[in-house]
Amino acid sequence: MENKEQKYSSDENNTRYKSGNEVVQSNSTEKCHATEIDLDLQDIEGIGPTTAKKLKEAGITSVLGLAVTSAEQLAVDISFSKDTAAAFIVGAQNLLRESNVLEKEFVTADFVLKERKSMLRCSTGSKSLDGLLLGGIETQAVTEFYGEFGSGKSQICHTLCAMASRPQSEKGFDGKVIYVDTEGTFRPERLQQIATARGFNAPEILKNTAICKVYNSTQLELIIKDLGRQINKFKAKLIIVDSVISLHRAEYLGRGTLADRQQRLNSILHKLVRIAEIYNIAVVITNQVQSSPDAFFGDPTKAAGGNVIGHTSTYRIYLRKSGENRIAKMIDSPYHPYSDTSFTINNRGIDDVEDYMNREKLEGLLDPNLQLDTVGGIEENGFNDSKKKYSG
Ligand SMILES: Nc1ncnc2c1ncn2[C@@H]1O[C@H](COP(=O)(O)OP(=O)(O)O)[C@@H](O)[C@H]1O
Ligand SMILES: [Mg+2]
Repeated sequence: MENKEQKYSSDENNTRYKSGNEVVQSNSTEKCHATEIDLDLQDIEGIGPTTAKKLKEAGITSVLGLAVTSAEQLAVDISFSKDTAAAFIVGAQNLLRESNVLEKEFVTADFVLKERKSMLRCSTGSKSLDGLLLGGIETQAVTEFYGEFGSGKSQICHTLCAMASRPQSEKGFDGKVIYVDTEGTFRPERLQQIATARGFNAPEILKNTAICKVYNSTQLELIIKDLGRQINKFKAKLIIVDSVISLHRAEYLGRGTLADRQQRLNSILHKLVRIAEIYNIAVVITNQVQSSPDAFFGDPTKAAGGNVIGHTSTYRIYLRKSGENRIAKMIDSPYHPYSDTSFTINNRGIDDVEDYMNREKLEGLLDPNLQLDTVGGIEENGFNDSKKKYSG
């Protein structure tokens, strides 16, 4: 404690640090997200050099890393009791709050609103999908895209890699991307194509996208555990996990293993939610739909993974094919209206239907708002028919 007092005695936030557990209000000036403050594991109450060493050996190298760990996992990793592990985690979270890195436990709603304003949005590359998401994917949230094979999940992920590099003034994150690929479907050539077609600096974008290929569920769990360190190292603003479920689904077969699988998925998802909030970054995950025999009695359009994923993702979007195009539908969100829209896939990644079909014809002729409104409104047959009619 003494050492921490010294560390922050010249800090302008020091009054906050001393003020204890009062409710934080919107006129306070502290930062709520992880900053570059160099906190040490040993600054946490009850953690000395030996425990700090043990934690580091278990891959937990920072206070933030400890704060986002689950007690069950930590107890196993450092062979302490669950209570002791939980006490360390709470200690880490308290230290982050005291240092104004993490928000206090009780805050007023106006403060939360102000804090939400530090949230950033990144365009998906399609105006219509951005419209569905009220502007794009968000930091401090986990956005889940689910749908059957070929519905465009990985194409959205590739396009986001290109879009995230854009300056914030151009609806990007001005940041780097970590792409966790569990299905082996990431293609650098495709990212290059998308970036080039959009007139972006493709070599730069490829350099700013870190790919992590994962081959089994245990490896995925370890990577998610270590994500905090990688985010700091790579300065990532977007984490993509494509897909979050395939490995667990393939490895945990049969009813006997279901509880174990769900618990492991639950741990991954909760960690992703905490990471998104604490680091003020966006997390995008993809998920499969339930297929036969699971879907035999139920809805074939249900996402796999059951309630575990559904209850943890902040936003869920269901994707399905519709002829050449794709339909995206908002399934679950705390504040988005439950609407749907359509987009297409082309050399620009994901794109707007009209923009693609009428790019040259429409350029400069139509009000952009008009384009947004009409997305999804064109009936394929009607469109084709009229085309036939006029082309002779
Ligand atoms: N360069 C491209 N131009 C047009 N369509 C493409 C291109 N690349 C991929 N696609 C389309 O994207 C679809 C695959 O989408 P994908 O996102 O990989 O599916 P999933 O949902 O399984 O991840 C394919 O049907 C293919 O037609
Ligand atoms: Mg895919």
